[in-house]
Amino acid sequence: MTRTVLVTGARGKTGREVAARLRRSGVLVRAGSSQPAGTTTAGTAQVRFDWHDPATWREAVAGVDAIYLMRPDLPAAPELVAGAVEANPDAQVVLLSEQGAETLSPDHWVRRVEDAVVTRAASWTLLRPSWFHQVLTDPRFYRDAIRDDRVLSLPSGGAPIAWVDARDIADVAVAVLRAPEDHHGRAYTITGPEPVPVASVARELSARLGHRVRAEDPAPEDTLHGLDPWTADLLDDLYRRVRHGGFGELSPAVKQITGREPTSMGEFIGAHLDRWRANPMPAP
Ligand SMILES: NC(=O)c1ccc[n+]([C@@H]2O[C@H](COP(=O)([O-])OP(=O)(O)OC[C@H]3O[C@@H](n4cnc5c(N)ncnc54)[C@H](OP(=O)(O)O)[C@@H]3O)[C@@H](O)[C@H]2O)c1
Repeated sequence: MTRTVLVTGARGKTGREVAARLRRSGVLVRAGSSQPAGTTTAGTAQVRFDWHDPATWREAVAGVDAIYLMRPDLPAAPELVAGAVEANPDAQVVLLSEQGAETLSPDHWVRRVEDAVVTRAASWTLLRPSWFHQVLTDPRFYRDAIRDDRVLSLPSGGAPIAWVDARDIADVAVAVLRAPEDHHGRAYTITGPEPVPVASVARELSARLGHRVRAEDPAPEDTLHGLDPWTADLLDDLYRRVRHGGFGELSPAVKQITGREPTSMGEFIGAHLDRWRANPMPAP
């Protein structure tokens, strides 16, 4: 029987790749978004899924066989995720978490979100990726500073990061969604093939773009001005873990689960150079 899978964050970096792969493999996809376009394309039903509106996620999870679940970066995420899982506890849940979750204390927000799934879903798998390559091309993160100011500024303290491609995460997620019984109860750290410091990323960008991209390593507290206290704490904790090497260890999961090597930072940069080239001046 054809499986139906709800993909949350279906317009996001991993969600859109997961939805596209599932669609191609014949799975019925509910593509969840807080702002769905409202159209239905072959194999994909766009559904409203807004963490701020419980009625939408109760309806979105009803009757699906599996959920690709992206936690909201909100203080109430553990309770919200628990509610979504309880609304369909028989569904397989594949949760997008983050590298190093297992090293955090049980009352840490990241762990509480994982526990909300582990203690409620009949079948679950945790994905714990390192930092995505795609933060470099995302306008919400580093794209504009690289393109317009020629700078990559990240308070990493020089520690390497095991950057991973969102498409490799999606390949792992789809393999797990297609074989729940093989992956139930497992947690997979997902990384790229090499730990790369921010300064080396900037050097690679410089070499490929043909102009210098500076690496900056500000103090974490200098990057948190103007943020609400919860987000500032979240980022401070994240940067502290980066600086202590918490996102630098390699995992063999991509190769083991997909059968092929993960994408390297060099390959990613080489394939996305147009994203960091300044727009041509409009014609007068
Ligand atoms: N970026 C990284 O390097 C990284 C590394 C490890 C883990 N993670 C985790 O991965 C997840 C995704 O991270 P990201 O920052 O890269 O974002 P992203 O997947 O590119 O985009 C975030 C998604 O959240 C959805 N969203 C926003 N507001 C929503 C709401 N009110 N209700 C439902 N969905 C909403 C957005 O979809 P709509 O606008 O369509 O609703 C969007 O698809 C986060 O939990 C993050 O902590 C990220």
